[in-house]
Amino acid sequence: MSHSETGNRPAGLFISLEGGEGAGKSTQLAAVREWYEQRGREVLVTRQPGGTALSEKIRGLLLDREHDGMSPLAELLLLFADRAQFLDEVVRPALREGRVVICDRFTDSTRAYQGGGRDLDRDTIEAVARVVHGDLEPHLTLLLDLPVSTGLARASNRGEADRMEVAGQPFHERVRRAYLALAEEFPDRIHVIDASLPPAQVSDAIRNTLEHFHEQH
Ligand code: TMP
Repeated sequence: MSHSETGNRPAGLFISLEGGEGAGKSTQLAAVREWYEQRGREVLVTRQPGGTALSEKIRGLLLDREHDGMSPLAELLLLFADRAQFLDEVVRPALREGRVVICDRFTDSTRAYQGGGRDLDRDTIEAVARVVHGDLEPHLTLLLDLPVSTGLARASNRGEADRMEVAGQPFHERVRRAYLALAEEFPDRIHVIDASLPPAQVSDAIRNTLEHFHEQH
């Protein structure tokens, strides 16, 4: 793995998994983790919103259906408050230590859900993103894409729906469209994976993408 080695320690690597509801991210996170561990890398698997004690509390606020009147801007700022803590406490230290950080969602979720879903202005999102993470973006993003109805049906089998899951099919269609537009905007970073396939085939596609990515970097 040639990803710019510094001394004996490999360079940190930041990978995000993205996708709509029920895309199977949890299952596929394990495949990504295994791929790197088999190659001797130290891996940290984490998530957004969440990933620190404070961030998990903010996650609770964001997903609790009690807050169904939350304004889109309040939602955006809570997400980025969470992310600021998460970057300081988790991501930056792990990258400095040369780990592979595998993150279940990052700012592409904000672009898709708050930008596409909630129709917040993209410039506003990018302005806050710049303050919170500057130009730190994942080196590689795996976008698990599948039809909204399939994803929502899968997610509904997982217990009580959270505030995002109940936002309705048109909201989730806008999220999916926004994700696919991001993949066109950032073709070098974001790789679309067909998540409607059986999980083992999705894992195969992910492993192929990882191999290809590391051949090129
Ligand atoms: P999940 O990580 O269990 O899929 O749930 C997190 C929910 O939060 C999911 O519906 C997507 C949503 N979300 C946003 O709306 N914006 C964001 O920036 C992030 C990270 C997540």
